[in-house]
Amino acid sequence: MSIHISAKKGEIAKVVLQPGDPLRAQYIAENYLENVKLVSKTRNIFYYTGLYKGKEITVGASGMGFPSIGIYSYELFTEYDVDTIIRIGTCGAYTTDLQLFDILNVKNAASESTYAKYAWEIEGDILPHQGSTYNIINETAKELSLNAKETNIHSSDIFYRKNPDIPAIATQYNCSAVEMEAFGLFANAQHLGKNAATILTVSDIIPTHENISSDEREKALKPMIQLALESALKI
Ligand code: HPA
Repeated sequence: MSIHISAKKGEIAKVVLQPGDPLRAQYIAENYLENVKLVSKTRNIFYYTGLYKGKEITVGASGMGFPSIGIYSYELFTEYDVDTIIRIGTCGAYTTDLQLFDILNVKNAASESTYAKYAWEIEGDILPHQGSTYNIINETAKELSLNAKETNIHSSDIFYRKNPDIPAIATQYNCSAVEMEAFGLFANAQHLGKNAATILTVSDIIPTHENISSDEREKALKPMIQLALESALKI
């Protein structure tokens, strides 16, 4: 048991898939894993451990934003000996060069957040994915004939903002999309010497206000889920 996860030691796999939403974790567990066990339901942040094609995998939510993913990923890495976390989330595209349903494999996450600095004294406002999982995802995407675009993204503290312009940090680091967690995950993994990757599906095109409807979301996320699970098999 850790402060925010009630699983017993040994009930969490070495590889964890981490969507933001607890219901998405439940959906993945119920539709893709066998012999599934609900190992934590503290705060309704469900964690499930089961088998995917015979490999033990845990799936559980991060919640939204750096404080939340910071807590869950830290406890998974330090209290449950997790080696690898693959975040699977959604993002808003800053550019019409991206389309709804596009899949991104995050190379670097840039952020104005002070999370990495104040948590771990990691300076700088851009952090890379950690370890070899990113390359495994690229290879696996090719095998599955999925186009996973290698890209930099903006990890923001802010969902709603007064100024509609693309934030300066996104322009500075050539970030084509925005989400709210990858930078915190990469900071924890870097500090702890662990592996972390982030796969995103474009759910919003910010300049045109297009978005994937809630009805479409379940189907829309299937290729990303499959990519994450098939990549996890090789870890
Ligand atoms: N902003 C931040 N995070 C997001 C967005 C967005 O527009 N869409 C999906 N996650």
